[in-house]
Amino acid sequence: MRAADPAWHDSRWRSAIRRGLLKWFAANARELPWRSDPTPYHVWVSEIMLQQTQVATVIDYFRRFTAAYPTIADLAAADEQQLMRLWEGLGYYRRARSLHAAAKLIVERHDGRFPDDYEAVLALPGIGRYTAGAILSISGDQRLPVLEGNTVRVFSRWGGFRGDVATTAAKATLWEIATAMLPQRGAGRFNQAAMELGALVCKPKAPSCDRCPVSAFCHAHRLGLEDEIPGRVTRITYSSRIEFGFVVPIIGQDRYLVCRVPTGERWAGLWDFPRWTAGDTDSSAIAAERLSEQLGSEVRPVSALTTIRHAVTRYRITLEVHRAAAIAADSVKLPADNYRLLSRDQLGELPLSVTGRKIARLLDETSAGET
Ligand code: ADE
Repeated sequence: MRAADPAWHDSRWRSAIRRGLLKWFAANARELPWRSDPTPYHVWVSEIMLQQTQVATVIDYFRRFTAAYPTIADLAAADEQQLMRLWEGLGYYRRARSLHAAAKLIVERHDGRFPDDYEAVLALPGIGRYTAGAILSISGDQRLPVLEGNTVRVFSRWGGFRGDVATTAAKATLWEIATAMLPQRGAGRFNQAAMELGALVCKPKAPSCDRCPVSAFCHAHRLGLEDEIPGRVTRITYSSRIEFGFVVPIIGQDRYLVCRVPTGERWAGLWDFPRWTAGDTDSSAIAAERLSEQLGSEVRPVSALTTIRHAVTRYRITLEVHRAAAIAADSVKLPADNYRLLSRDQLGELPLSVTGRKIARLLDETSAGET
């Protein structure tokens, strides 16, 4: 190896890392439900769920999902509302819609069998280079690399790669490292081991280098740069905004008005208590007036119910929830598809936004919602 050659050009270095990593994985791999029977379908569902969510949370969702839809054909035939209800709480609902759409395409184009051709897999909605590589390597041992949050960190530390990993050039280099590191056979095992090391040992903050099976070969460790590598991704700057939700009871009925969240808004397609999200006022009275115009029915706040704080993308949101005066069942002017008048039990069956579910639970727990 020439002095200027990067570490990953050295085949002995790569072999030493592989050996140490795979031995560690054999002893330390977590037992996860999708690992006991890694069919393409199981790996696909697990990887999609894991894209934005911690393993500990995914486990139960994965079990419920595959119990409800044991095969791709079952998923293709799923009722959309039931599917969203199963996904509720995992967030990033587009993932569930893409899974559904992809399952339908697999039934149409591939007779219900998950394709084993890389291009055919990439052509499915919601599946990019990383997910396609993960599915085909883990379920079918195809020699394909995987680059996601964990492996970006692991590979850049191993190789002492100092670039800002958010740039296109850095990503190209990291894909190159990910490919060079793959063994001839057992790529799926290698990929899982590298992700596992990232999840359990080579963590973003304070990595446990003393427990790392390959720290002797890690350039970041050798240089004392494990806190500097990977190069920092630009920090999100949060902005605060206030939103308003209203619990609107229906006169003479133990029911509440809920609306379908319009396309283009967060939680689109799910259901929610009427909510003013425009961020153009900090007055509940003004928000209620504007919402009244939209609904065609008067929303008049009568008492504060609760305040829910949460963060979505770059916003720190304070949702003020108010109880409103009851309205007549026939006063809402929205198209019938876009609203429902539901009892508390019925609210349990519908997929609700995260904050919608919190409000529904509050109505269950307290008498606050009583008219
Ligand atoms: N994170 C995302 N995919 C993973 C996998 N297959 N194993 C461990 N952690 C992961």
